[in-house]
Amino acid sequence: MCGIVGYIGNKDALPILIDGLKRLEYRGYDSAGVAIIGDDLKVVKTQGRISDLENKLKNEELKGSIGLGHTRWATHGVPNDVNAHPHLSESKSIVVIHNGIIENYLELKKMLVKEGRTFRTDTDTEVIAYLIEEFYEGDLLKAVKKTVELLEGSYAIAVMSKNERDRFVAVRKDSPLVAGLGQGENFIASDIPAILPYTKNIIILENGDIIDVRRESINVYDKNLNLITRNIKRIDWRIEDAQKGGFKHFMLKEIFEEPDVIREAMRGRVRDAVVEFPELNISLEYLKSINQVYFVACGTAYHAGVFGKYLTEKYLRIPAQAEVASEFRYRDPVIDEHTLLFVISQSGETTDTLAALRFGKEKGARTIGIANVVGSSVTREVDQVVYIHAGPEIAVASTKAYVAQVEVILLLIVYFAKLLGKLTKEEESNIVNDFQKLEEKARSIVLRSNEIADFVSTTKSIEETFYIGRNLDFALSLEGALKLKEISYVHAEGYPAGELKHGPLALVTPNSLVIAVITYGPLKEKTLSNIKEVKARGGKVLAIAQEGYNTIEEVADRVFYVPKVANDIGPIINVIPLQLIAYYMAEARGLDIDKPRNLAKSVTVE
Ligand code: M6R
Repeated sequence: MCGIVGYIGNKDALPILIDGLKRLEYRGYDSAGVAIIGDDLKVVKTQGRISDLENKLKNEELKGSIGLGHTRWATHGVPNDVNAHPHLSESKSIVVIHNGIIENYLELKKMLVKEGRTFRTDTDTEVIAYLIEEFYEGDLLKAVKKTVELLEGSYAIAVMSKNERDRFVAVRKDSPLVAGLGQGENFIASDIPAILPYTKNIIILENGDIIDVRRESINVYDKNLNLITRNIKRIDWRIEDAQKGGFKHFMLKEIFEEPDVIREAMRGRVRDAVVEFPELNISLEYLKSINQVYFVACGTAYHAGVFGKYLTEKYLRIPAQAEVASEFRYRDPVIDEHTLLFVISQSGETTDTLAALRFGKEKGARTIGIANVVGSSVTREVDQVVYIHAGPEIAVASTKAYVAQVEVILLLIVYFAKLLGKLTKEEESNIVNDFQKLEEKARSIVLRSNEIADFVSTTKSIEETFYIGRNLDFALSLEGALKLKEISYVHAEGYPAGELKHGPLALVTPNSLVIAVITYGPLKEKTLSNIKEVKARGGKVLAIAQEGYNTIEEVADRVFYVPKVANDIGPIINVIPLQLIAYYMAEARGLDIDKPRNLAKSVTVE
C-alpha cells in the first residue's frame, strides 16, 4: 500500500523524508513524492522508484524543516507523474498526501466542478486538497475537520498549508497512521519502520483521531475537535521486524491482513442492502447475450476461477469453465462474441494469462480483468477491469489476493444475477448482510492461528498429503494443496472427496495426512463418508468444519471449526486455516517461506 512520512523540527526535512520513504519501499509502490515548506511550498514527485525521485531532486532546491513524503501504490488513475502524491489544492496553497480510498470522490468532484473548480489529476486524493482549501479560514485543523465530515471510505491523510509553516495536520480512518515524538521535532508515518531510527516513542492513532503536529507538541483530537489522550508506546523492535509489522514472515503478515482486505474489497460495492459495481459498464442487453463464461488464470488465481465457475452456473445458469491459462490458447476452445472471459491475475503481468487474454480477444470474447496491480498489463488490455484492492502482496505465496479474488468474483456474479433478474431483493439483501459480518469472522479465525500451529507440530512424519472436499470445498482443497506444496515442499494433492476411492486411496497409509474441508452444508454427510474411508486405511485426518457440525469429532483426528457463514460465501474465510497449515508446516521445517525455492512472485515467461 501507499506510504506516508511527515517531519517537523529544526533539521533539514528532505533527507529525513527520503530515508523514511526508503524504509517503506518493502511495501511496494509505483511513484514517490515530497512536499516541503521553506521560503515557499514546493512539491517534487515522479513515477518510478525513490532513486528516480532523488535524481529529479538534484535539479531542485528543496530546503525547509517541515515536509511530507509519500510512496503511491495506484488505486485511482494509472501510475504517472501527475497522479503521484503530494497533491496541491487549486490555488496551490494546501498540499495533501493520502493512503486509502475515498469512495464518494466522484460525487464530491462533480460538486466542486459545478462550482467552477478545475482538476489536474485522476486521483481521489486531489478532491481532499480542494475541499480543505474550500473550508480554509486561517486554521488548518478546522478545515481538515470539516473536510473529513464529507469523506466516505478509508484514509490516512496528512496536510500542510503554506500559510501556517509551524504545523501539519493528519487524520486517520481505517488506514494506519502513527505519530512519533522527538526532542524539538515530531514525525508521522503510515508504518513505524519509517521513523524508527529517529524516535522510539510512538502514538498509534485510532480511527477518527485528528492530530495537530508542531515542533514542540502533538495534540490529538476527536472528530469534534475535543482534545483527547493517547498513550505513548516505547517501540524496541529492530527495523526488519518492524517492516513485517512484528510478524516473522510477510506471508503470515499478509494472512493476518485478510480481515482488512475483505473489508476493502467490498468498499463501494456492498452498500445498504445492495451490491453494485460503479466502475463497470455492462448493459442488460449484453449480459443477456452471453452464452458461456471462462475464467482463465494461473496458480492461485486459477483456483479462484474454479470457485467462479461453480457460482456462475449456480446463479447465472450460464455454462462456465475455469481454465489454466497456459493450456487455453493451445486447445482451440469455442469462443465467440457471446463469450465472457474473466482474466484473473494478482500481478497483472503473468505471461500465460496475458497470452490467454489476447487469444480470447482475438476470437471475439469480451474480457473483464480481475486484478490487483493498477495499470498492469492485464488491466490495460482487458475491455473492463475490476480491482481487488488487496494492497501489495510481497510473499511469493499468494494469500490475501486469493481471498479478495474470490470475494470480488462472488460479488460480480451476484451483481450480474441481480441485473439479469435471477436474484430477488431479499436474496441480495441476505448476501449483503452476510458480507457485512465477514471481516469479524475472518478476524476470529486468524486470532486462533495457534490452534493450527499446535496441530502442525504433530505432523512431523507426514509424507503424503491429500486435501479433499466437495463443490466449493473442492475448489478450496486445490488451493490448500498448492499452498502446502509451494512453501513447505511436502507433496500435496487437492481432490474431489468422492474421487479418492478411484485411485489415490491406494496411497493412504498411517503416514498420510488428509485435510478434509467440510464446510459446504448440502454435501457434508457425503464428505463424512469419504473421511471414514480414509480412517479405515489408517490415514490421519484434520477436518476444517463449520461450527455446529459436531458429528465430525467422532470421525476426524482433529477438527478446526470455522464460523458459520452462508455456503457460497464461506470459501472467502475458510481458506484461512488452509493457508495457516502451509505456513506452519514450512516454519516447522525452517524453510525460506517468503521466497520458496524455484519460484518467482510474477511469472513473466511462458
Ligand atoms: O500474478 P498472478 O495472479 O497472475 O500469478 C499467478 C500465479 O503465478 C500465482 O498465483 C502463483 O501460483 C502463486 N505463487 C501461488 O501462491
